[in-house]
Amino acid sequence: MTFRETCIFVLLFVALSATSQRVCDPVCQAKEPFNCNDVQTFNRTDFPRNITFGAATSAYQIEGAAHRAVNGWDNYTHRYPGGCPITETLECSSLQILDSVVKGPTKGDYKDYAELLFQRFGDRVKLWRGNISTGAMYVQVVNLEEILVQNLRATPTRTQGGKIGLTLIGRWFVPLNEASVSDQMAARRAIDFIVGWFLDPLVYGDYPKIMKNTLGERLPRFTLLESQLVKGSIDFLGLNYYFTQYATDSLQPISTPPNIQTDPRANISSSRGGVLIGVQSANFVYYPPGLRQILNYIKDNYANPLTYITENGFSTFGNLTLAEALADQERIESHCSHLSCLKCAIEDGCNIAGYFPWSSMDNYEFSSGYTIRFGLNWVNFTNPADRREKDSAKWYSRFNTN
Ligand SMILES: *[C@@H]1O[C@H](CO)[C@@H](O)[C@H](O)[C@H]1NC(C)=O
Ligand SMILES: *[C@@H]1O[C@H](CO)[C@@H](O)[C@H](O)[C@H]1NC(C)=O
Ligand SMILES: *[C@@H]1O[C@H](CO)[C@@H](O)[C@H](O)[C@H]1NC(C)=O
Ligand SMILES: *[C@@H]1O[C@H](CO)[C@@H](O)[C@H](O)[C@H]1NC(C)=O
Ligand SMILES: *[C@@H]1O[C@H](CO)[C@@H](O)[C@H](O)[C@H]1NC(C)=O
Ligand SMILES: *[C@@H]1O[C@H](CO)[C@@H](O)[C@H](O)[C@H]1NC(C)=O
Ligand SMILES: *[C@@H]1O[C@H](CO)[C@@H](O)[C@H](O)[C@H]1NC(C)=O
Repeated sequence: MTFRETCIFVLLFVALSATSQRVCDPVCQAKEPFNCNDVQTFNRTDFPRNITFGAATSAYQIEGAAHRAVNGWDNYTHRYPGGCPITETLECSSLQILDSVVKGPTKGDYKDYAELLFQRFGDRVKLWRGNISTGAMYVQVVNLEEILVQNLRATPTRTQGGKIGLTLIGRWFVPLNEASVSDQMAARRAIDFIVGWFLDPLVYGDYPKIMKNTLGERLPRFTLLESQLVKGSIDFLGLNYYFTQYATDSLQPISTPPNIQTDPRANISSSRGGVLIGVQSANFVYYPPGLRQILNYIKDNYANPLTYITENGFSTFGNLTLAEALADQERIESHCSHLSCLKCAIEDGCNIAGYFPWSSMDNYEFSSGYTIRFGLNWVNFTNPADRREKDSAKWYSRFNTN
């Protein structure tokens, strides 16, 4: 690392900690008591009027296999090999999301599918988001982005006034030892391998320098044409944010063959000295200040794109009794605490367009099946027409009624 890079890192983290120290109302904090769940003192009127509040759903996870053919997610959820590299999702003003996965990726299939959706829904749906996620090889990424952008651009959406964006699986990393430059760099590598991998090409037309240096020939290069195609191609950014982890410089030797888990050379964890970073949900530990921090990071490093929080939520176990499931005070705490931090992020100058809790209702969670529930509304999985409002749905509805 050069002297200049060291300075940038130090400045970056000084700036981040300065930001996170500024107190907002309600306070953006890591742990309970959050003091944010009373709608008489904190509600949608505390946000700019032009911010959209909704709730997210997904066709695959809600509708299941009714009236459709087998798709790539079926293979994924049944653990068949082959995977499913691209999901694309559309969000309606009626707060509905449809999604599907195109096996491939073959450019033709994806284009046909996107065009069909745009044709049928383009008059009503003005925001379209692609959900790119791949646990697979670096080599796919050029293709994915090229396909997404080329095909979405070639559609009539824009002439109908639609906007095209991309949802990233956001995750924030805090240096385990905040004073350690090597931990700061480990956190930065972890962020670049998850967020920068996609956001750098979309904003700057190339992969993050850290990835290029680390991966060398294993990372494909953009041709000039590809670079121009992806650069500046999104009208808005979608960010899924669930949790934050500590990162420390990994001392393990590089695994052979190398893989995406070990390439960032960051050892990640949810606790420091046995103390959790935030609050435990069924299957992860949430940390509301991480939402503010990642949004500030995106503002400062990626020219402050218009950003929707397309997913954020709290999981509970599927084996709770109905009464326990409906009394979901913990879910209210999770959403209101993230909303407190979102409000701070807006005050910090982040360009926020909306917030969509995951999820409108309990549904099929890809890798956990029906064992965990994220819904604001409860669903009886043996009789799915049987649905009840959880306390969180009642709270969110009151939060929005103003
Ligand atoms: C919403 O919050 C504001 C304070 O920000 C409060 O003045 C107002 O009464 C609240 N609205 C309701 C319906 O409680
Ligand atoms: C986006 O993709 C991720 C990873 O595959 C998945 O967990 C998430 O639920 C997807 N979101 C939607 C709305 O399809
Ligand atoms: C699912 O996987 C099987 C076995 O690998 C494959 O033959 C089939 O084409 C896949 N179907 C879809 C829709 O991805
Ligand atoms: C991460 O840290 C733990 C605890 O110190 C250690 O046991 C583990 O080997 C480390 N893993 C890597 C990949 O560095
Ligand atoms: C519910 O499921 C979780 C995870 O499998 C388990 O840890 C817990 O003990 C279960 N609770 C009850 C009441 O069965
Ligand atoms: C909302 O309005 C403010 C003030 O005019 C503007 O700066 C911001 O970009 C707008 N946000 C959205 C999502 O349109
Ligand atoms: C769910 O629906 C089934 C079938 O109608 C019913 O037997 C069961 O009691 C319901 N579960 C709950 C918790 O209400």
